[in-house]
Amino acid sequence: MPLGRNILITGGAGFIGSHVVRHFVNKYAEDTIINFDKLTYAGNLENLKDVEHANNYRFVKGDICNTEELNRLFEKFEITDVIHLAAESHVDRSISGPMEFVTTNVVGTVNLLNTCKAHWKNLENHVFYHVSTDEVYGSLGDEGLFTEETAYDPRSPYSASKASSDHFVRAYHHTYGLNIRISNCSNNYGSYQFPEKLIPLMIHNAVEGKELPIYGDGKNIRDWLWVEDHASAIDVIFHRGAKGETYNVGGLNEWTNIDLVEQLCTIIDQQLNRPEGSTKKQITFVKDRAGHDRRYAINADKLATDLGWQPSIQFAEGLRKTVDWYLHHQDWIEKVITGDYKAYYAAHYNR
Ligand code: NAD
Ligand code: DAU
Repeated sequence: MPLGRNILITGGAGFIGSHVVRHFVNKYAEDTIINFDKLTYAGNLENLKDVEHANNYRFVKGDICNTEELNRLFEKFEITDVIHLAAESHVDRSISGPMEFVTTNVVGTVNLLNTCKAHWKNLENHVFYHVSTDEVYGSLGDEGLFTEETAYDPRSPYSASKASSDHFVRAYHHTYGLNIRISNCSNNYGSYQFPEKLIPLMIHNAVEGKELPIYGDGKNIRDWLWVEDHASAIDVIFHRGAKGETYNVGGLNEWTNIDLVEQLCTIIDQQLNRPEGSTKKQITFVKDRAGHDRRYAINADKLATDLGWQPSIQFAEGLRKTVDWYLHHQDWIEKVITGDYKAYYAAHYNR
């Protein structure tokens, strides 16, 4: 891929997007990285303080559903490629309000695809990369892993919206010849994750002395990946992935929610010098999430074999670093949970 590209990253002020922006800005000085983000409750420019003055970084506030904004953006920056992460991402919110997910994840994605088609003369010369989720594959039993051939079976409004956007991206490849890539990744963890998701929520509530709400029996399984490893996978797939291909991304790192939260509690006891076992007492089993998928687990062999990607970090180390980061960034947490989100947060999580 030639240097000097103008790469649009949508949703770059969010959790994963901010890590992807940082990764590309620092690694590819010859390219210009344009971060386009609506700054919803989940998007915070605080996440990108360390790169905001970089020569090859630009930020534009905007909505992927707004065609005029996208047209202006493509003209002004002569966008050559897109890495699309902007989305509504929280399953619980999709259960209480699905329409926002249809609007951003489905309509917004198609609007972006149309903009690319309208602005790019030779579709071969440009990459459209959709960052998607393993949740499109549905829920596993005790055995087996999701592969790229697993049939789609989305079960929450969130995963249905992501599955739909994946289908549209593939349709633009087959119908119009758009040079696409899709990756379906498992649960990410690390710094700058909004404290509505399991790990940062548990750390925040633990510090505040609040209950640690575990849905159902706590035996649901997720496959956790260090967010910076996801960013490195996106780099590899963007630069070396094959046209039209899908890649699964995951860490071969399955944990039940209860085992994971208990590990967090142990680390928090150590880092806050609390008596051993004291944080665990905050764990509370609560009503299960509606339609709660039981198990996700990823087979990432294709990515390893075809593109040589491997995760870089062991879970125990990643979890320690994550707890340490949140304990030292209480000010970040306070900033991101203020504003409109405060009432929602208080109603749902200050049990
Ligand atoms: P996030 O909620 O932290 O960030 C989403 C970002 O998108 C925010 O900055 C938000 O402001 C922006 N955004 C939302 N609507 C927008 C719109 N209409 N126009 C422009 N920007 C908008 O999400 P995340 O966890 O970082 O996930 C990023 C992407 O990766 C999503 O597409 C998600 O489906 C996918 N994904 C997430 C995970 C995970 O574990 N978090 C795993 C696999 C895939
Ligand atoms: O698998 C990838 C997906 O992972 C991404 O596509 C989503 O954007 C991302 O939000 C994440 O979805 P999950 O629903 O798995 O993540 P969440 O952090 O919301 O929940 C993780 C597990 O923990 C899940 O089984 C539900 C449970 N949980 C969650 C919360 C917030 C609890 O038990 N208690 C809680 O308070």
